[in-house]
Amino acid sequence: MCGIVGYIGSQEASPFLISGLERLEYRGYDSAGIATLKQSDAIRITKVAGRVAQLNSAVEAANPDGKTGIGHTRWATHGAATQVNAHPHIGGSGNISLVHNGVIENFETLKTGLEAKGYRFESQTDSEVVAHLVADSLASAAADRAGETTVEDCIDAVRSTVAQLRGTYGIVVMFRDHPDLLVAARCGSPLVVGVGKGEQFVASDTSPLVGFTERIIYLADHQIAVIRPNNIQVLHRDHGRVRPDIQPLSNQSQDVNLEGYPHYMLKEIFEQPQSIRNALRGRLDKDNATAKFGGLNLTTQQLRGIERIILTGCGTSWHSALVGEYLVEELARIPVEVEYASELRYRNPPVGSDTIVFGITQSGETADTLAALREMKRKGHHTMAICNVIGSSIAQEADGGIYLHAGPEIGVASTKAFTSQLTVLSMLALYFGRLRHLSFEAGQRIIAQLERLPDVVEKTLECHAQVKEIAARYADANNFLYLGRKFNFPTALEGALKLKEISYIHAEGYPAAEMKHGPIALVDEHTPSVFIVPQGTVYDKVISNLQEVKARGGPVLAIVDHEDPHVNKLADDVVQIPEIEDFLQPIVASIPLQLLSYEIALLRGCDVDKPRNLAKSVTVE
Ligand code: M6R
Repeated sequence: MCGIVGYIGSQEASPFLISGLERLEYRGYDSAGIATLKQSDAIRITKVAGRVAQLNSAVEAANPDGKTGIGHTRWATHGAATQVNAHPHIGGSGNISLVHNGVIENFETLKTGLEAKGYRFESQTDSEVVAHLVADSLASAAADRAGETTVEDCIDAVRSTVAQLRGTYGIVVMFRDHPDLLVAARCGSPLVVGVGKGEQFVASDTSPLVGFTERIIYLADHQIAVIRPNNIQVLHRDHGRVRPDIQPLSNQSQDVNLEGYPHYMLKEIFEQPQSIRNALRGRLDKDNATAKFGGLNLTTQQLRGIERIILTGCGTSWHSALVGEYLVEELARIPVEVEYASELRYRNPPVGSDTIVFGITQSGETADTLAALREMKRKGHHTMAICNVIGSSIAQEADGGIYLHAGPEIGVASTKAFTSQLTVLSMLALYFGRLRHLSFEAGQRIIAQLERLPDVVEKTLECHAQVKEIAARYADANNFLYLGRKFNFPTALEGALKLKEISYIHAEGYPAAEMKHGPIALVDEHTPSVFIVPQGTVYDKVISNLQEVKARGGPVLAIVDHEDPHVNKLADDVVQIPEIEDFLQPIVASIPLQLLSYEIALLRGCDVDKPRNLAKSVTVE
């Protein structure tokens, strides 16, 4: 969480800083700030306990000039979302300023040591400790040189500071006495350096760099970037200089505008036909009735030898994993376990050597997913990432993987990444199935369904107007149930999560039949139940559950996949989606649920793209 940016060069820094923070705001939006510096001047800090738009007004009013600058948009961990806790923080007597993304676990101990030396803290943050540590180290160097410091002293101050930190950090440090220098360092929190001509950039991800540079360097853990207007050096904290790996900025990073949509969430919902096409592109092998992937980095023999699969992730990605379990077990007959990454990282389950672990993640930065994969890798398991963000930490650290190619997902509520994850998992299940018992004909049938999918999703989006109208009838409810069975049990979980996170309505997802073991007690005339009830093996069972809710006076919204007079009679509202085979139903059935949560959130006046308390990438535990 938190987004950081930095600029050094021949232009004024603040326009890049503000536009970068706008693009990084999905990472946190509790407060925002920038620090700028010009030759022989003091560091100027502008910060607000609010969003980047407010910061922008403050910057316009204060006009803080300077061709070197750093900026931050915060998701609060230590200390409330106040102006004083907003970044950038000042170290020492104002000679350094710093922005930080991450959590410093030993900050209390470090703070006590600094207080004993006379440092005074303005904020409650762990980050201010880092600022004072750098200043303290610099002060020691200055003492040895009659008050003067060199660029080398600044680099050493950052190096010796990060060596004392426990936890995660991406930091960018600015030095009052060296305005032509920024020093960035990372461990566990992402940082990308943008390479320009006579100017350089740094940011938490590539989105702020779009339009400013086409060449980037991903910093790895324990690396330090020494950034000057005409030159970038990369050092390892302990081993000295490393050759920077300059890469082109991927095209995928370019698509960061709203393009006429009122919200990113709506844009991303409507992008799904295309994002699913992108996930499928080049991966269906019709000649062999299977799927193909470039980056698994295992031989067919090794893949054939896999006896168990662990799918792990958090939030929506964990819901994808649940669908993945149904898919892989059904199509490939390989036992699958689904683990919350936050549990897997500390659990010690017995795992055989023929087990492969897939981390599912949109951002590729989720701290728990990263830690779980690291732990499984440490134990010698082959780890794979099913990931959207190219070059993200998880994509880089996994032994192999599959990119979603969904394009940037900016709305905090995951939509297109979810359906792309399910598309990839369907192809993976097909691939594993075809390595085993799945027949050529069955493979062909699955491919035919996958090929239809983008058009089916396109058609499904036509329900928007109807869902909008239905949303108005349900927007005042305080509780919702989402119920489905088999493949659509995870769909129900995902529908409930979407509603909860953007409209703040309490919602529970359940396997429909489980409802009568407790949640049915919630049913009354004020608690709507959303039933996902397409044709298939469990249709009649779900209808029985629906009747049980109606018998208790609960309003019912049903999602069906054919003209269904039976459901029409029972349910209060019915949305009909196109038919597709059951293993792809979660993708199609999720569309009206995404739209429902979007429309309800709007009606309740909620901030759809930036719901309270949340951030897009959860890079803390
Ligand atoms: O980037 P990831 O897929 O690893 O993120 C995992 C969750 O934080 C994420 O899916 C979260 O639950 C979304 N806000 C749900 O819409």
